[in-house]
Amino acid sequence: MLTAYDATFAAVADAAGVECILVGDSLGMVCQGLSSTVGVSLETMRHHTECVANGLRRSQATAWLIGDLPFGSYHESKEQALRSAVVLMQAGAHMVKLEGGGWTTETVRFLVERGIPVCAHLGLTPQTVHALGGYRVQGKTDESAAVLRREASALQDAGASMLVLEMVPAALSGELTQQLTRCPTIGIGAGNGTSGQVLVLHDMLGMNLGKMPKFVHNFMEDAHSVRGAMEAYVHAVKDGSFPVNATHAW
Ligand code: KIV
Repeated sequence: MLTAYDATFAAVADAAGVECILVGDSLGMVCQGLSSTVGVSLETMRHHTECVANGLRRSQATAWLIGDLPFGSYHESKEQALRSAVVLMQAGAHMVKLEGGGWTTETVRFLVERGIPVCAHLGLTPQTVHALGGYRVQGKTDESAAVLRREASALQDAGASMLVLEMVPAALSGELTQQLTRCPTIGIGAGNGTSGQVLVLHDMLGMNLGKMPKFVHNFMEDAHSVRGAMEAYVHAVKDGSFPVNATHAW
């Protein structure tokens, strides 16, 4: 999985073999220049989801398209979440992603029962960065690891189709991946024991304007083109050479 925010990058990612394209609310940082994802609106997400969907349609791409529900668009009620999810699905998403465990479980169930596939997201949830006290590894203590185990199971039982695990210790995300038999895990800064990986497009192309997260690899370094970098990423994820656990085993 890789993020993309416009038609051309999405089509190139598909041609490079990326199986899932996430229109992440990370676009707030990499496209809009915001300092966090908190300020991203549903209308912005709708617009970029539509751009990506157009690009995939025009190039007859086969990648699965996930639209990220932004901060505040699913927090009030299940009904609000449904209305927001409908906006992204009608813009061309095949699935929506939302952050958090516990309180989101019933929302996930509500959306899934209504025919909307959902990708859940646990660990570091950037929309709640202010409550978490920064972009920190999650699940390091026995107590917080137990919460993650419980929440991951509940999300699977609620019908989540995928689970993003962000900045979770490699051993724990590997364990969660074994625990969830019906819900593939997608790691980011979570070691290589997950079912798949995701990176932010600009990070893996070495275009990060801020501090490069430790777990990111710049795939442009040894590539001659963006497509070549994406192909190298797909290859490295599939053959298990990225990520390397030792460098970011938290
Ligand atoms: O918004 C995003 O790009 C994400 C990924 C980092 C998982 O949520």
